[in-house]
Amino acid sequence: MNLTLKVWRQANAEAKGKIETYPIADVSPDMSFLEMMDVLNEQLIGQGIDPIAFDHDCREGICGMCSMFINGEAHGPDRLVTTCQLHMRKFKDGDTITIEPFRAQAFPVIKDLTVDRSAFDRVQQAGGFVSVNTSGNTQDANSIPIDKHDADKAFDAAACIGCGACVATCKNASAMLFVSAKVSQYALLPQGKVEATDRVMNMVKQMDEEGFGNCTNTGACEVECPKGISLENIARMNREYLYASLKG
Ligand code: SF4
Ligand code: FES
Repeated sequence: MNLTLKVWRQANAEAKGKIETYPIADVSPDMSFLEMMDVLNEQLIGQGIDPIAFDHDCREGICGMCSMFINGEAHGPDRLVTTCQLHMRKFKDGDTITIEPFRAQAFPVIKDLTVDRSAFDRVQQAGGFVSVNTSGNTQDANSIPIDKHDADKAFDAAACIGCGACVATCKNASAMLFVSAKVSQYALLPQGKVEATDRVMNMVKQMDEEGFGNCTNTGACEVECPKGISLENIARMNREYLYASLKG
């Protein structure tokens, strides 16, 4: 396949960015999107052009690093996959593909397609954990019976990889799907109930301080989430928040 790539180039956080156009030839339909980007970067290096900066790590849908907006969609046109799992067979010869960074006030561009998503880390640090006694008296997690339905729901919520596609897709740049997945994975389990009140209050406070917008129930985040995180988690987080507020 011969393709035309229109890629956001931005030298650093302060620089003004713009779209540059690069033709690329002989792209195999079996390549992943990131492999195609690797080939483009080899081509650019050969031409003496600065290669395109983009985030990636696991390249198997686990780490959540490969944040790209492809033809106006987070992680591209496929469903329930990350950019690294997207294959070039989803495109056809002669296509023009526009590639941009995830855009949100809370995710400032560092360079080209790389954005700073440390706001997610700070939200997680505000309460996305369970404090465990590690003195040697720790209770074996398997000794606490958990309803299968709750275990499955908690596991589904824990599938969130923190990629940020929900934020980039939302017209309000809301992080509610991400935060609600992190709240839900603990709220559903007995191990998470001890710190539940502080967790939801602190994580929502941090989310607001980071500059993410509010949720207006458009549901776009759920559609673009590569891990199928359900809006049901947002409803659960709202209930948890209300309960925690009333408690005091
Ligand atoms: S909720 Fe989905 S889209 Fe949002 S960070 Fe988690 S995995 Fe990514
Ligand atoms: S590179 Fe890890 S999820 Fe894509």
